[in-house]
Amino acid sequence: MNIKYISESPYKTIDINDCYWYHYFDFHKKADNVVWEYKLGSMLEKFLLPEDMKGKTFLDIGTANGFFSFEMERRGAEVVSFDLGLDDQPDQIPYPFSPDRVKANREFMLQLHKGYWYAHQYFQSNAKAVYGHIKQLPGGLEKFDVTLIGSILQHTRDPLGAIIEADRHTNHTLIISEAYYPSKEPVMCFHANPKDENPQYWTWWRISPSFLELALETLGYKDIKLCGPFDLINRRHGYKVPTITIKGTK
Ligand SMILES: C[S@@+](CC[C@H](N)C(=O)[O-])C[C@H]1O[C@@H](n2cnc3c(N)ncnc32)[C@H](O)[C@@H]1O
Repeated sequence: MNIKYISESPYKTIDINDCYWYHYFDFHKKADNVVWEYKLGSMLEKFLLPEDMKGKTFLDIGTANGFFSFEMERRGAEVVSFDLGLDDQPDQIPYPFSPDRVKANREFMLQLHKGYWYAHQYFQSNAKAVYGHIKQLPGGLEKFDVTLIGSILQHTRDPLGAIIEADRHTNHTLIISEAYYPSKEPVMCFHANPKDENPQYWTWWRISPSFLELALETLGYKDIKLCGPFDLINRRHGYKVPTITIKGTK
């Protein structure tokens, strides 16, 4: 099947203020008024990413503004960045949201994509972007040496299905970072809060480390390593997200 890779920015010029900044990049130093969510540079070792990626391929699932894509390209990888497309619907929790929610999501994705392409141009990146929904990665997508599923399982109705789908496209190493649920049992906890006036429309789960460990083991991964929990500090919203990373190799 033909796959639609995008290797150059679809936007001719991008104003830094027209982007939604999930990730902090060094170029934000010069843009005082720009708000971003996570500054991950000093926390990189917690994501268990291989140091040397020369000659290797990397799939970044849920790339957002592409922080991990550009870092892995810097380490030598050939990179494909994946995220929801403008017209893909995220898995929304079953709450009676107003129909404007869909329109708001498209606008949000547009701003998120623009941030990715702004950074892509800044780093003169050769990373290719592909869009879709993780429940079914695009037909024709190859297998990658290293795949990262970065803090996106919590946003999916079927996290195990998403892990299986990522595994289908992974040759060697699968890394998952995810919001931490403090249990020794292999469980997911439904994390919606419909009592809140403004419920997070696409946050479904908190997942325990042993759930992820068992998922990787079941899929045949060995040499499983775990890092965390460690706190990710959200600058925009002012909260901390306890997070874990798990990595397995085949
Ligand atoms: C919490 S952000 C994580 C960004 C980045 N991976 C990181 O770890 O810093 C989740 C990302 O997953 C994307 N996403 C959410 N649901 C998705 C889905 N069903 N399919 C593909 N991507 C999705 C969002 O658009 C967003 O870019």
